[in-house]
Amino acid sequence: ARTVGRNADGVVTVGGVDVKTLAEEFGTPGYFLDEADFRARCRAWREAFGADADVFYAGKAFLCRAVVRWLNEEGLNLDVCSAGELATALAAGMPAERIALHGNNKSEAEIRRAVEAGVGRIVLDSFQEIVRVAHIAERLGKRQRVQIRVTVGVEAHTHEFIATAHEDQKFGIPLAGGLAAEAVRRALKLDGLELIGVHSHIGSQIFDTSGFEVAAHRVVGLLREVRDEHGVELPEIDLGGGLGIAYTSEDDPREPHEIAKALRDIVHRECESAGLAVPRLSVEPGRAIAGPTAFTLYEVGTVKELPGLRTYVSVDGGMSDNIRTALYDAEYSVALVSRTSTAEPMLSRVVGKHCESGDIVVRDAFLPADLAPGDLIAVPATGAYCRSMASNYNHALRPPVVSVADGRAREIVRRETEEDLLRLDVG
Ligand code: LLP
Repeated sequence: ARTVGRNADGVVTVGGVDVKTLAEEFGTPGYFLDEADFRARCRAWREAFGADADVFYAGKAFLCRAVVRWLNEEGLNLDVCSAGELATALAAGMPAERIALHGNNKSEAEIRRAVEAGVGRIVLDSFQEIVRVAHIAERLGKRQRVQIRVTVGVEAHTHEFIATAHEDQKFGIPLAGGLAAEAVRRALKLDGLELIGVHSHIGSQIFDTSGFEVAAHRVVGLLREVRDEHGVELPEIDLGGGLGIAYTSEDDPREPHEIAKALRDIVHRECESAGLAVPRLSVEPGRAIAGPTAFTLYEVGTVKELPGLRTYVSVDGGMSDNIRTALYDAEYSVALVSRTSTAEPMLSRVVGKHCESGDIVVRDAFLPADLAPGDLIAVPATGAYCRSMASNYNHALRPPVVSVADGRAREIVRRETEEDLLRLDVG
């Protein structure tokens, strides 16, 4: 479904529009998103998991009203993890019952707002929160559907900052030591809560299905304990998000149908051997849906050759529009997109314009030796965790997100202006 290609003049196009036209109309830097690809990925997830499962898109990857409308139209649900994401979801018409609220430290106000709105589930992250949500729901005269987030104790093979299933970290309640079982015990006693299931999210940018399988095995193990102790079969399990995408040609991601099959198989097998009815499954992909659908378009500024070392290619953005390289040592690729070139490849480092030497967008890349100021280069796979983690460092204006489809391009998030910056500065 991807609509990225090159036209007869050698200029890269997306959704039928070439990048020179996009740069003229919307400026650089900008995130250009292939709407057909986004929707196709939503459909692939829905179809892979089928009618007896729910796909919650993880809004933290990238969220705006247009995205919420696409999700709605493609039959996906939405995972939000803050009042801001919840407000965006509701403002764009996502039915509250299809929203899940996450977070390790939800405020009272966030919880109240979610319960009032009638969100389909709140994922409880601590003993204190079990009580907090129950009290708020009771005060509002409601019974809130909840899941308990457990840490299953697997080491996901990914960057430390985005691994979340080992026990020594801030998310979830460990299965170990009977803590998760105790959480279930407490939640079942509270009138304000309807405990519908257990949740596990093992981490992000994961390529190997085995971690998910171990998680599924342990989560079903907890369901079995709960059945044995309380005579209650919890009807749902959520196995989180985390499926990796290809940032460079070295990454080999699993497809939604592969992960769906692996998860279903293990859940069915485990439930059968435990004599449990198969619970309704849900998953929360963020990156795997949004990530591949957008690229960042930059204009090349200064090209500085350091003889014997490498060439520094400065672009008009940087760590303010993509913090992932600096934060996680993330790897990206980059290509000259405004023309073709037959010049020799030169070892390059694509850097931003911020006052910091760690302001690197692409650490090692080969770009043609005739690269010159004014050329356009694109960094693919920036649809997830780039605009959503963008900052105003050095008072950079956060770039727009432009959706392109069927030969038409439109801003779905507009570029920030100096007025936007100054509006908040009320001293
Ligand atoms: N569900 C939960 C409970 C999560 O915490 C996350 C991500 C997801 C789903 C979605 O994971 P995904 O499918 O997108 O991997 N900023 C980091 C990623 C942080 C992910 C946090 N939680 C990055 O840029 O790599």
